[in-house]
Amino acid sequence: MSMKLGFVGTGALSSAIVTGLKSLPGETTPVVISPRNEAIAAGLAARYRDVRIAADNQAVLDQCDTVMLAVRPQIAREVLKELRFRPDHHVISLIATIPREEIAGLVAPAAQVGKALPMPMIARRQGSTIICPPDPIVATFFGRLGGVIEVEDQSEFDALSVVTATYAGYFRYLDTIHAWVSSQGVPRDKARDYITNIYKALADAPDTAPDENFMHLAQDYATRGGINEQVLREMTERGTFEAFAESLERVHRRITGE
Ligand SMILES: NC(=O)c1ccc[n+]([C@@H]2O[C@H](COP(=O)([O-])OP(=O)(O)OC[C@H]3O[C@@H](n4cnc5c(N)ncnc54)[C@H](OP(=O)(O)O)[C@@H]3O)[C@@H](O)[C@H]2O)c1
Repeated sequence: MSMKLGFVGTGALSSAIVTGLKSLPGETTPVVISPRNEAIAAGLAARYRDVRIAADNQAVLDQCDTVMLAVRPQIAREVLKELRFRPDHHVISLIATIPREEIAGLVAPAAQVGKALPMPMIARRQGSTIICPPDPIVATFFGRLGGVIEVEDQSEFDALSVVTATYAGYFRYLDTIHAWVSSQGVPRDKARDYITNIYKALADAPDTAPDENFMHLAQDYATRGGINEQVLREMTERGTFEAFAESLERVHRRITGE
């Protein structure tokens, strides 16, 4: 099925989606993007034959049937108020903190309105996109770009969204290991390569043991009296994981505006 795809807001995320899409072999979906950010829009249009820059946001809408909203939340209401949507527009909001119902009000009379949460690694066609509500067209689109998770209701969407707040903490965790190993005189590159390689293998562990939950995997590695058990116990005793879970709770409250 052919689609004419538009983006209102051509920033980091729109750029990643277009890059991922256009890396698919034989991909010819026409894409129309809004002129801001100027440099990003110009770069995409120069790189991909099927990508064109519209004169303004309204021109994006007028030239597409499926539109992704990708402006920052702070200006979204103002931007959307100015635009005239059609009843047949298929609207997918990528705007993180505005609920679907509010977007639906702003883009009326467009009837098909959903939310999606892609991640920047979509540029490499990696990392699942959460979509709400389930939608075969949107699911097929993101399914080809790293995978899709369809959820029925906003509360499930919001809870899953919290996962995306944990990436920086993850890299800080790896950096802690790296900094310590390097401080022992190991060349930084060598330490980095080793950590990267081992954590890639660990990331595959849930796939190789699909019936085990994460705590089982933790226990598999935490041999009694061993060094993994020691780190796990010491971190647990110091409240590291409790504090982490509390952060997740606070992020969730922020996402849901509670
Ligand atoms: N990046 C992520 O990882 C991520 C993940 C999930 C969801 N999101 C959501 O995706 C949305 C976009 O995020 P982003 O990271 O792509 O932000 P971004 O890089 O700041 O992109 C937003 C773009 O909107 C442009 N813009 C400003 N005013 C505009 C207007 N009046 N009309 C049209 N475009 C306008 C900006 O252009 P100028 O540079 O010229 O101001 C900028 O290029 C946000 O709502 C965010 O919540 C982002």
